[in-house]
Amino acid sequence: MTGFAPPAVLFAAAELAPLARVGGMAEAASGLVRALRDLGTDVLPVLPDYGTADGPIALSDEVSIELSMPDWAGPTRARRGTPEGVDNEVIFVDAPGLARPHPYVDPTTGMGWPDNDYRFFVFSAAIAELTRLLKPNVLHLNDWHTAAALGFLSADETPSTVLTIHTLGYQGVCSAEWLQRIPHESWRFAWYDVANPLVGAIRSADRIIAVSPNYAREILTEADGMGMHDELARRGDALVGIRNGIDASVWTPVDNPHLAVPYGVKDRESGKAAARAALVKQAGWDDDGSLLITVVSRLVDQKGIDLAMALAPYLASVPARIFVLGSGQANIAELVRETADANPDRIFAVTDRYDEPLAHRLFAGGDVFMMPSRFEPCGLAQMQSMAFGTPAIATPVGGLVDTIIDVDAEPKMGTGFLAQSNDVAGLVDAVHRAARTMRAARTRKAIQKRGMTHDWSWVRPAQHHLDLYAEISN
Ligand code: GLC
Repeated sequence: MTGFAPPAVLFAAAELAPLARVGGMAEAASGLVRALRDLGTDVLPVLPDYGTADGPIALSDEVSIELSMPDWAGPTRARRGTPEGVDNEVIFVDAPGLARPHPYVDPTTGMGWPDNDYRFFVFSAAIAELTRLLKPNVLHLNDWHTAAALGFLSADETPSTVLTIHTLGYQGVCSAEWLQRIPHESWRFAWYDVANPLVGAIRSADRIIAVSPNYAREILTEADGMGMHDELARRGDALVGIRNGIDASVWTPVDNPHLAVPYGVKDRESGKAAARAALVKQAGWDDDGSLLITVVSRLVDQKGIDLAMALAPYLASVPARIFVLGSGQANIAELVRETADANPDRIFAVTDRYDEPLAHRLFAGGDVFMMPSRFEPCGLAQMQSMAFGTPAIATPVGGLVDTIIDVDAEPKMGTGFLAQSNDVAGLVDAVHRAARTMRAARTRKAIQKRGMTHDWSWVRPAQHHLDLYAEISN
């Protein structure tokens, strides 16, 4: 079919940076796609076109086709081409109800769109139809939004399949009526008395990737398995953990356009000092030598920002200060603002926007970075901060455990500070340990250097994906 030549890997996701970005999945998806292409793999992303205020997102060299869809889905088109600001081709799925000002929630209420089940079943059926047309060697699905695709493909039509779990908490649970619309072995998608797209893909995909090795272990436990632990355990070796990478060409202090004084490993002390001084000034503080803790986060419950705010009464005695950049849930933004207002000498917060240049400056200028997540499948910000020579203080969960080596546990290899428990007491202890360690010049320099010289890029994780594709394609 003209313009719709088959790729080796059809890569389906509800988010892909910079076209549709809510959380880390958007960065992870685009980072992996780019790295796979750099390794010579022909990978084609497919995502919904959520549109812009001016209508659909434009594509250059566009080729568009009408997809043959189930009756309930309404007219659905696939447009293939290259969007502005993106270095490769994508396929957009256009269907009634998909285009919205936000992929998942109504921005005026913060509530999920009431027809999300319909919207992502349409997207999933479109992925299945594209799979029939394109016949890729591998169909790579991401999270529940794409998971039902496997119910729309017969065994003969199904290529090798991979499901990546970025967050197990969202499973797309919806009314059991959806089971009647799934043509192939719909029992796989049945979950007690509801339909559950994610469980269907967990039961069917050839491989299931959790976004870090530790998360792959955690989700086998009742405490963190979100009801899926037995299903995942049944899949045995089909479940693997591969940590995400970061875009190492963007998240680096070297030649960084957002820093007044860009720096590398050798001149990091002067570069970081300049970035730190600018942050202290922006917050309106006098530099009293307090440990400067920076936070860059989406404001959602998962990220544990309330735990960071609960540190307020302890900060003066460390002494430490926290500079937060975050946006998201209104109740968390309010908590952060109130805590900052009540502790103006200790906490400063920007909560009304996501400000990428400021994010770079916070990664550079902090003495340490804090990531107090309640759970964290992989986490990207801790790797970004380490790439800037800023070690992280983090809770001992998910990918944070895989990417941060606690310096007190492993003095010769340490890259940061893992709290011993996932709570305020654990964080208070970790902050004290960090303050002590960062005052010791030799240890500080060694930790900074280890973080900066580690390869956080997508190269190795992408190679790992290729090995796994090869395993299931045989
Ligand atoms: C989700 C997870 C985060 C992970 C990202 C990319 O946002 O919460 O831990 O890094 O997906 O996989």
